[in-house]
Amino acid sequence: MTEMSPVTQSSAAKAPRTPTLPDAQTVTAVRHYTDRLFSFRVTRPASLRFRSGEFVMIGLMQKDEKTGREKPLLRAYSIASPSWDDELEFYSIKVQDGPLTSRLQHIEPGDEIILRPKPVGTLVHDALLPGKRLWLFATGTGIAPFASLLRDPQTYTDYEEVILTHTCREVGELTYGSELIESIRSDEMLEELIGEGFADRLRYYPTTTREESPKMGRITDLMRSGEVFDDLGVKPLEPGTDRAMVCGNLAFNLEIKAMLEEYGLREGANSEPKEYVVEKAFLD
Ligand SMILES: Cc1cc2nc3c(=O)[nH]c(=O)nc-3n(C[C@H](O)[C@H](O)[C@H](O)COP(=O)(O)OP(=O)(O)OC[C@H]3O[C@@H](n4cnc5c(N)ncnc54)[C@H](O)[C@@H]3O)c2cc1C
Ligand SMILES: NC(=O)c1ccc[n+]([C@@H]2O[C@H](COP(=O)([O-])OP(=O)(O)OC[C@H]3O[C@@H](n4cnc5c(N)ncnc54)[C@H](OP(=O)(O)O)[C@@H]3O)[C@@H](O)[C@H]2O)c1
Repeated sequence: MTEMSPVTQSSAAKAPRTPTLPDAQTVTAVRHYTDRLFSFRVTRPASLRFRSGEFVMIGLMQKDEKTGREKPLLRAYSIASPSWDDELEFYSIKVQDGPLTSRLQHIEPGDEIILRPKPVGTLVHDALLPGKRLWLFATGTGIAPFASLLRDPQTYTDYEEVILTHTCREVGELTYGSELIESIRSDEMLEELIGEGFADRLRYYPTTTREESPKMGRITDLMRSGEVFDDLGVKPLEPGTDRAMVCGNLAFNLEIKAMLEEYGLREGANSEPKEYVVEKAFLD
């Protein structure tokens, strides 16, 4: 597929070096969006199989202060690329005093990161019962697993309509998502696989809360007021037709979970698929 990634066009990869880290993968591209957000692509281990929407542990080596020995510093990261992609893409926060991202934000093509090839997670198609409309509710970097699912043809063969909502504080924090949606809608290979007009079945609803944009407000408030349903011309969620995946901060996840339960949807899991699934975008 062509031009699927907002990252690829940004930087030329240095020639990969011989891996020196345990589970090392080589960075092939990096793109910075704001002073708090960036994305990057790395080589994919030949043996790594994952389901779109899953996460893995990635990181860098760091010196243990007591022993002086180098040891891995790992954090959970959603894979943002789809399962068919030759490389892996990640979308990351930069926490200025964060143990990992204070350093990870400086990676460049040719550098190595550690990637433990054990994907897990609940934001997968297998954890939902069949439905007609799939809602993907994200805040901040919570869009990452949906960037994977939205590039997976199965998402459009399983559902008649797919709605991505993305709420961020500022307009610049929406760039990764808006470019992603644009690239999917114009992807000829996806259209060939799924059928003409598939792009019309993908709806995108970005909102900001602290900087002016065409649609302002928390998605939860816009659902309570009914504005989001009016804007999109769809009915509020119902368990017979609607399925939902949620990924954001803990307070957002809890709030929207309670709302989904009120609509009559029940939380699913890999072992017991139901109408919605939730995963934290980070540990608060
Ligand atoms: C299942 C899961 C999947 C995750 N996927 C991603 C991902 O795809 N991209 C990503 O950037 N992070 C993701 N995270 C968070 C990630 O694991 C790290 O917390 C993050 O990389 C920061 O690491 P750190 O060591 O710099 O700081 P940490 O010590 O881990 O975090 C410091 C503080 O920064 C804030 N913070 C951490 N992560 C975020 C974030 N993503 N957005 C806003 N604030 C944050 C929190 O307040 C946290 O207490 C995920 C976490 C979980 C549990
Ligand atoms: N984004 C920034 O510019 C920025 C800058 C410096 C530091 N930080 C710190 O970084 C951390 C993460 O910030 P973040 O902006 O990435 O993520 P965040 O705080 O999770 O906010 C992301 C979006 O989710 C919304 N949201 C939060 N709780 C919600 C809820 N219960 N229901 C519905 N929507 C909800 C926020 O709206 P509201 O705006 O209404 O909360 C915001 O639009 C925070 O601790 C923050 O203090 C962020």
